[in-house]
Amino acid sequence: MAYETIIVEVEDHVAKITLNRPDALNALNSQLLSELVDALQDAQGNDKVRCIVLTGSDKAFAAGADIKMMAEKSFVEVFSGDLFGPEADAIMRVRKPIIAAVSGYALGGGCELAMMCDFIIASDTAKFGQPEINLGVMAGLGGSQRLTRFIGKSKSMDMNLTGRFMDAEEAERAGLVSRVVPAKKLLDEAMSAAQKIAEKSMVSVMAVKEAVNRSYEVPLAEGLLFERRVFHSLFATEDQKEGMAAFAEKREAQFRDK
Ligand code: HXC
Repeated sequence: MAYETIIVEVEDHVAKITLNRPDALNALNSQLLSELVDALQDAQGNDKVRCIVLTGSDKAFAAGADIKMMAEKSFVEVFSGDLFGPEADAIMRVRKPIIAAVSGYALGGGCELAMMCDFIIASDTAKFGQPEINLGVMAGLGGSQRLTRFIGKSKSMDMNLTGRFMDAEEAERAGLVSRVVPAKKLLDEAMSAAQKIAEKSMVSVMAVKEAVNRSYEVPLAEGLLFERRVFHSLFATEDQKEGMAAFAEKREAQFRDK
């Protein structure tokens, strides 16, 4: 599929997907989200891809859902069409890890898209926010739910009720992002994290993603049991034998995803 709103490059087992609507600060419209879902599903099915990096421009990861596209929509239209729901569900079904590399604005749906990824690396210019309240609406893709789990109720209420932006340093302190790097180094840092992940056994990588995400869905005892059983099940893989043998033999493991 030829894309118009995103750019996809595959390099050293990493698919880099760049949101590319510069005139609208990468605002998310139906075309962009459907192209993004297509590219993610493609990456999921491509054996050469072992990790995904999702990024935007220096100025904006994404400044939110496309306000101009939404402005005239009625309740019945957005409710019946489940505006952006199927795309969000499809993004969450991707089993390979997705790193969000965020520079500039990640607002509204942009912040929510970054939170749908597995972790966020931010440049020191990043600004996160849920400013939907200023438009007479509220977050609709996780800003009231995921953000609250990530940064706690008080800060989430602050962000969602005032619509203020949070800079990268505050976002790191609050636990929204995993690391902050100088803007110039953002992509190198994200690609090198992705390459590190790409060297692991895909079986354990996907198991980790599933288990960590599970912790947001189930009570602790259930999550711990899930984790323990998945840990046990990894002993059925050749990669477990290889990984532990390599440690004992003081050499690099050669994983084969088996
Ligand atoms: C449509 C957008 C846009 C958006 C920016 N643009 N954000 N278009 N939807 N979300 C467009 C502007 O209209 C402008 O187009 C161009 O991008 C550049 O933006 P400026 O505003 O001129 O840039 P600047 O002055 O630097 O301000 C940057 C900004 C501001 C602070 C990020 O653009 C802004 O506040 N954007 C809206 C942020 C927001 O409210 N996001 C939440 C959306 S609701 P022109 O044609 O004039 O040059 C949402 C709901 C999610 O996300 C849930 C869905 C289910």
